[in-house]
Amino acid sequence: MNIEVIKFDNLGRGIGYINNKIIFIPKSVPGDILKVDITLEKKNYLEGKIVEIIKPSKLRQKVICPYFDNCGGCDLLQISYTENLEYKLKKINDILNKNQITYQVKDIIKSDERYNYRNKINLKVKDGIIGFFASKSHQIIEIKNCYLCQKAINEILKDLHVLEVNNGAITIRCNYNEEVLLIIDTVDELKNIDVLLNNHKIVGIIKNNECIYGSNFFVDKIGSYLFKVSYDSFFQINPFVCEKLFLEIGKNIVNSSKVLDLYCGVGSLTLVAATNAQNAFGVEIVENAINDANTNKALNKIENINFLCADTKNVIDKINKDYNTIILDPPRSGVIKEILDKIMEEKIAKIIYISCDPNTLVRDLKILEKNYEIKKFILLDMFANCEHVESLCVLKLR
Ligand SMILES: C[S@@+](CC[C@H](N)C(=O)[O-])C[C@H]1O[C@@H](n2cnc3c(N)ncnc32)[C@H](O)[C@@H]1O
Repeated sequence: MNIEVIKFDNLGRGIGYINNKIIFIPKSVPGDILKVDITLEKKNYLEGKIVEIIKPSKLRQKVICPYFDNCGGCDLLQISYTENLEYKLKKINDILNKNQITYQVKDIIKSDERYNYRNKINLKVKDGIIGFFASKSHQIIEIKNCYLCQKAINEILKDLHVLEVNNGAITIRCNYNEEVLLIIDTVDELKNIDVLLNNHKIVGIIKNNECIYGSNFFVDKIGSYLFKVSYDSFFQINPFVCEKLFLEIGKNIVNSSKVLDLYCGVGSLTLVAATNAQNAFGVEIVENAINDANTNKALNKIENINFLCADTKNVIDKINKDYNTIILDPPRSGVIKEILDKIMEEKIAKIIYISCDPNTLVRDLKILEKNYEIKKFILLDMFANCEHVESLCVLKLR
């Protein structure tokens, strides 16, 4: 049976109907007429996989990546970059509407690089095959090049097989200077390390959390800021968009701002905020990241800043009248309600909420909107070609 794709859902999948039952088809495009295999059958919905494109949508474009059909990485390589951006705006506005939040998001900051922007790749290794999991599967798709990743990552990816890892996981991170950190989790012995070292700018190899070569960090640079980033510290994966995020943070901080950054990582947004603010304080749960943050304070010669290694849930008392601006850049799970309640109780004047998950962002906005008004809501295309999007929301106390 042929299926016509009607629209996208919020996970970047095309939606069609079979006998009035909804079917979600990854990698399809509204306007496609498709032959599909049903991969999952539930009471209220189906999931399918494209078997043949009978008639392509006018929105389709040639896909640059040979792995796209099977790989679980990208969702939106098959449409133009402009369509990618429009999709993301619509997705966010649909989620806001559905949750009765009356704000129309109009702006999305582009990624200057549609391809080759990522500074980090997480690979799986199974029976000697290095790659990504296929969509919704534990089958490995062998990857020799990823169009999302920067050149330094792809060059080393081609040669990784020399290590003869049979099973485990490998993460490659790179910085502005094409220096690479290799993070390997495996019980296998690593072979031919010198071959990799001779051909690539590897600054550190970390095996099972132990540094076995070089250092366990590198220094990255975004705009005029330098950041020490340890192998296990969070760092934004798209440096081109990260620089624009910094500019947006800067615009929202003035010299009377006293800033509490509750999920500060290596202190990147805290440092940017402190540049304009009276003072800033960052909290982060990962010890290496907070050590990096303290180094970054010195590296960037920024004095009006302090950091604390803690779980935010244990430092709720920090949310008090000493601060008039709170930065929230939580993991996908969002912010716990106790923190939101304390922010409201203390009547903190401004909240800058950065989120990579619109569903938890909207959940938290619904709590905050009782006392806060959305002054600004923009998107940043941090994850170009994927359905994910970064949001930046500025809230003012009513
Ligand atoms: C999305 S990242 C943002 C980091 C930073 N703002 C940046 O732009 O690089 C979220 C950070 O929150 C940290 N984190 C997660 N849960 C936390 C918690 N309960 N308390 C404190 N930090 C936490 C993570 O380790 C991570 O560094």
